[in-house]
Amino acid sequence: MRVVRLRSTQISRRTRGRWWPPGGRCLRLLPLLCIFIIIAALGILAISEMSLVQRRVVSPVVGGGAASRIMPGRVQHPPQSSHSHQIQTSNTVFKIEPLLRRNAPSVELSAQVAINAVRASFIADIITREGNITWVKEQLTSKQTCQQQPDDCPKVPPKLYGAKNVSSSPLQLSESMLRTLVGPVEMGGKWSPPECSARHSIAIVIPYRDRWEQLLTLLYHLHPLLQRQQLKYRIFLVEQVGNDTFNKGVLMNAGFLTALKYNPAPGVIYHCFVFHDVDMIPEDDRNMYSCPQQPRHMSVAVNELDYKLPYRQLVGGVFAIKTEHFFKVNGYSNLYWGWGGEDDDMGYRVEHVLSAISRPPEWIARYTMIKHKKRKPLAWKVKVKLLRTSWRRYRLDGLNTVQYQLLELKDYPLYTRILIDVGHPPHNIRVLQQEQDEQSKKTD
Ligand code: BGC
Ligand code: MN
Repeated sequence: MRVVRLRSTQISRRTRGRWWPPGGRCLRLLPLLCIFIIIAALGILAISEMSLVQRRVVSPVVGGGAASRIMPGRVQHPPQSSHSHQIQTSNTVFKIEPLLRRNAPSVELSAQVAINAVRASFIADIITREGNITWVKEQLTSKQTCQQQPDDCPKVPPKLYGAKNVSSSPLQLSESMLRTLVGPVEMGGKWSPPECSARHSIAIVIPYRDRWEQLLTLLYHLHPLLQRQQLKYRIFLVEQVGNDTFNKGVLMNAGFLTALKYNPAPGVIYHCFVFHDVDMIPEDDRNMYSCPQQPRHMSVAVNELDYKLPYRQLVGGVFAIKTEHFFKVNGYSNLYWGWGGEDDDMGYRVEHVLSAISRPPEWIARYTMIKHKKRKPLAWKVKVKLLRTSWRRYRLDGLNTVQYQLLELKDYPLYTRILIDVGHPPHNIRVLQQEQDEQSKKTD
């Protein structure tokens, strides 16, 4: 038996010697080498992913002016003091899973349901008002109505001023004074050019709470600008009731869904939306609030940010988007409680679903930010995790899952007010927020 075994090993060695080329030992190590390379590559990838997330987040969490958070032209890192410390010491984990509704209706279905509801309410409204469906048909198809339409407005509006200086302090105005200054705006803050047929109809949505002076200042500039641009528009002020944490994403989603019910023409919904921060004052009326083919970030150059775009995904400040595109990206995320991040999340959605954000040139898309105290930012840990999961989460978090209560819907002389209860932040987020506040107090 022993002899036989010896022979067989000898044979196999000889055979191997024949088949393996010179340097065969090195080649035998090849699989090991491959495994090593793969592990090293994965390691490098993980490290670069971590630093990417940090760079994307652009040190947004610490309080203070926007300028102190973002220094143009430099990659930003999270502040070394309180928050990096916070991440290491806090044991509370931010869990996204419990906040998502796995059984949410699909993005497409919920869009269809929203549009159908608008159509149904339009028809129901006319039937109750006129009591006669034949009348409706006549109205919508009548040649006479078509013939009465004036010509389209010129492609380049003739009465634009161009650039002008804007102060960063809020104007001291009363509402009644403002009414006389902004021209013949109709109740609900709507207007359309009397001399021609507007090429675009736009719903402007302003998320809001407790910034009255800023609001009046914005309206003072915005109404005349939109009129010079010969647009058909209506301004919606979406206000969060109460004092709990601000949720701008929910407000903007609620504003969008409510504004859909307003028809710029019979049976027509607004084709485009502009989401507008209350503190952003346009400096140049050549920056058109018209309907963009690709979602358009309009506040490219802001005084507080040294008139430079700090990073590519930024769509915060003033953002214009077609109604169908807003449905496609499933609106804003509802999970950003506190200042910052919901716009970055939208930036990722747009890049992921619609491929690109468009921007007017920096020298036109200029804005002055009115000076004000900043709202409390959302917890760093929450923001990082939300942003990292943005594109994977978007189908389960947005227009199809938004929850709010509509408390008031009323026409005021310069805007339509939509008063909303957005509820309270989830327990997990509240705990993380408190931990972060305590840490900042200790280190300050
Ligand atoms: C925030 C954004 C904000 C931007 C500019 C970022 O850090 O996440 O929400 O729009 O800074 O201030
Ligand atoms: Mn602001």
